[in-house]
Amino acid sequence: MSAQLEPAVAGPSAAVKTVAVIGGGTMGNGIAQAFATSGFEVRLVDQRQDLVERALGAIGKNLDRVAKKQSWPPDQAASILKRVRGGVSFEAARDCQLGIEAVPEDLPLKRRVFEQLSNIAPEAILATNTSSISITEIAAAAPRPDRVIGMHFMNPVPMMRLVEVIRGLATSDATAAVAEDLCARLGKTAVAVSDYPGFVSNRVLLPMINEAVYCLMEGVATRESIDTVMKLGMNHPMGPLELADLIGLDTCLSIMEVLHAGLGDSKYRPCPLLRNMVRAGYLGRKTGRGFYEYAAK
Ligand SMILES: NC(=O)c1ccc[n+]([C@@H]2O[C@H](COP(=O)([O-])OP(=O)(O)OC[C@H]3O[C@@H](n4cnc5c(N)ncnc54)[C@H](O)[C@@H]3O)[C@@H](O)[C@H]2O)c1
Repeated sequence: MSAQLEPAVAGPSAAVKTVAVIGGGTMGNGIAQAFATSGFEVRLVDQRQDLVERALGAIGKNLDRVAKKQSWPPDQAASILKRVRGGVSFEAARDCQLGIEAVPEDLPLKRRVFEQLSNIAPEAILATNTSSISITEIAAAAPRPDRVIGMHFMNPVPMMRLVEVIRGLATSDATAAVAEDLCARLGKTAVAVSDYPGFVSNRVLLPMINEAVYCLMEGVATRESIDTVMKLGMNHPMGPLELADLIGLDTCLSIMEVLHAGLGDSKYRPCPLLRNMVRAGYLGRKTGRGFYEYAAK
């Protein structure tokens, strides 16, 4: 994506200049980077200062990589990074017109975050990056459910062009228009999807990943062979087990649980090996070990 220095001023999202991102993990730091690169001011909130520093460090490193690859002028990456201010208090979100939560896939936690965001920035539109939880249910915790929407970014956010835009039952046309316009300002394509468990992306993707874990558990093939079959045989850019490590095994498990509970079909039952990996703390790239091992972070 090329870096724009000033956001566009026309269109339904013209009033959005400052975006608060709550949770600076895998998705949150990517979302913060994408908005800052497109000229928005960003406030990044996480639970502890070391996590905030880690998120800012990841954004800085990724921006340097893009700058090198796309031959940006000197200082461009640094000036984009300056637009991201990190903190541990929701107070940082006071001046935002859009709040996006990217905290773990847990309904009570997401509802709590929206309550806090609504108290600090009552006029802001609240977007959730949930992979599978009902937008309507998350919105029910907010005093203005008409201003709540799902903006489901893909991982890695700065590179992936799709955003699933999901309206809850109460989401207004105006809120949906702002979300779709924001996607365009980020250089991304918004696809409208209805509020059903897993939306489209994870309803299709996660059962495939879960089945790959079953193949591994049952000894159908090694991890490398399973991934090679899907890469060379189906032309997937990554194998399902590598992709699970990138997504995070805890996130994969949460999504399977939401599909299982929400759709009530045993075909969505999470693989016991996936559960065991999560219990062991082998969450994928973010912990240095999942189905594969990664250099210590
Ligand atoms: N990982 C993916 O590939 C992917 C893709 C699309 C959507 N999602 C969704 O995005 C959301 C975040 O996933 P992730 O993979 O980035 O998770 P993650 O575990 O990498 O990051 C979550 C971050 O939220 C922070 N956090 C937790 N509680 C908080 C609180 N009360 N206040 C502020 N920060 C808090 C954590 O410290 C952590 O930094 C989930 O809903 C997930 O389903 C994930």
